[in-house]
Amino acid sequence: MNGQVHPLESEYRAFSPASAELADRAKKVFPGGDTRASAHYLPYPLSIVGAQGCTVTDADGHQILDFMNNFTSLVHGHAHPDIVAAVQTQVALGSAYAAPSDHQLELAELITSRVPGIDLMRFTSSGTEGTTMAIRCARAATGRQKIMKMEGGYHGSYELAEVSLVPIPNERGDLSAPHSLAVDNSFPDSVLRDTVVCPYNQPDLAGALIDKHANNLAAVIVEPILGSMGMIPATLDFLTVLRDKTEQHGVVLIFDEVITLRNSMGGMQEVHGIHPDLTCLGKIIGGGLPVGAVGGRADLMQLFSPEAPRPVMHASTFSGNALTMAAGLAAMRCLQQEDTDRINKLASRLRHGFNHAFEQSGIRGRAMGAGSLTNLHFLDQPAHDARDAMQGMMAAGHMTRLLHLAMLTRGVMSASRLMYCTSTAMIEADVDAAITALNESLAVLRPYIKKERPELLIG
Ligand SMILES: Cc1ncc(COP(=O)(O)O)c(C=O)c1O
Repeated sequence: MNGQVHPLESEYRAFSPASAELADRAKKVFPGGDTRASAHYLPYPLSIVGAQGCTVTDADGHQILDFMNNFTSLVHGHAHPDIVAAVQTQVALGSAYAAPSDHQLELAELITSRVPGIDLMRFTSSGTEGTTMAIRCARAATGRQKIMKMEGGYHGSYELAEVSLVPIPNERGDLSAPHSLAVDNSFPDSVLRDTVVCPYNQPDLAGALIDKHANNLAAVIVEPILGSMGMIPATLDFLTVLRDKTEQHGVVLIFDEVITLRNSMGGMQEVHGIHPDLTCLGKIIGGGLPVGAVGGRADLMQLFSPEAPRPVMHASTFSGNALTMAAGLAAMRCLQQEDTDRINKLASRLRHGFNHAFEQSGIRGRAMGAGSLTNLHFLDQPAHDARDAMQGMMAAGHMTRLLHLAMLTRGVMSASRLMYCTSTAMIEADVDAAITALNESLAVLRPYIKKERPELLIG
């Protein structure tokens, strides 16, 4: 738009003057006004002053339906009464003891009883720390260095966990042997060398890569649904090959279920009937407070035991803190199979309605995902891997950003990459409101798509 503000951005600015003012203040203390990359978007994010159930209130007083749920972690939405009560009680008893507590034990008992691949576990303060400790455990167990991760996979805020997060077309190499790409200029060469990048949902190629690197490979880490690249479910064939090949070569298979535990009581490993050696958890198990966990086969997890000859070192000031444990236990007790079934059904309604909205608008696009997790793609065929997702992103250009802003101004919040998830605080009417907002947003977007990206129109 030649430096001009796009009309849909102007609409957003007119909708959110108080957030704009706070964003200006934020620039004086945070680089670019931002303290968390995933929660930032342009021109500035909405500032939130409170939240209840499935709505957040922004600084200008709008009530906005929250389909982001702090990046899937708030499975009960905001301020669930049982969680509020548990936290209030606990905070008055102290928030962190640096000592075991009953809630810690009860939450671990509940998780190990639900997740089939977890015999023993440890809490961490974040999903990032959980995946870090899983990788260290695998290296200690095998004496090998290399880690295989998926192209487009995300496992937290450190270099290895982000290698080839964004498979840039002219840098990513051939699908059969993708290059290890840094996402910024901070990556040590050693990390890129020690990371084997595997294409997602390509069973034959994955099997061949594991065979090739087996002698040096400590672990394969995989999300059963590729989250950051748009909620692309792994096929059963793909996960089966990963399981068989890692078993054959004595490589540790790690499922990163930080996001996907919300889809079933026992995570996607339960849905597929494939049990990894180690599992990483996070998000929902903290009831809205910072959390993570690593768990798995008893013989592997015993490497963390203080009674082991040379334990894998894991200290961590806030791991298993009493406040998070109280919130997490309340949240997990309130989440039974029927709740999960209900939010999965709501998300299925959402995807159906979203797909219908795209069809009605004549714009190429579709909702992908599984269980309670959904992502919009500007594609007319389902994405199978990160490269497909990239194709949609590149075709869309700034239309993704404009659609996100248009949805916000129509009262629906998602992640800026157009990720939506349902919570137990929602009912069908909330889902239908989001579908209506998408219908309206696509209608306002269509003239700009016609002018700037006509290839996104059908026919
Ligand atoms: C699949 C996956 N693994 C790990 C992480 C890292 O978790 P955290 O942000 O709690 O460190 C995330 C965060 O979004 C994630 O989506």
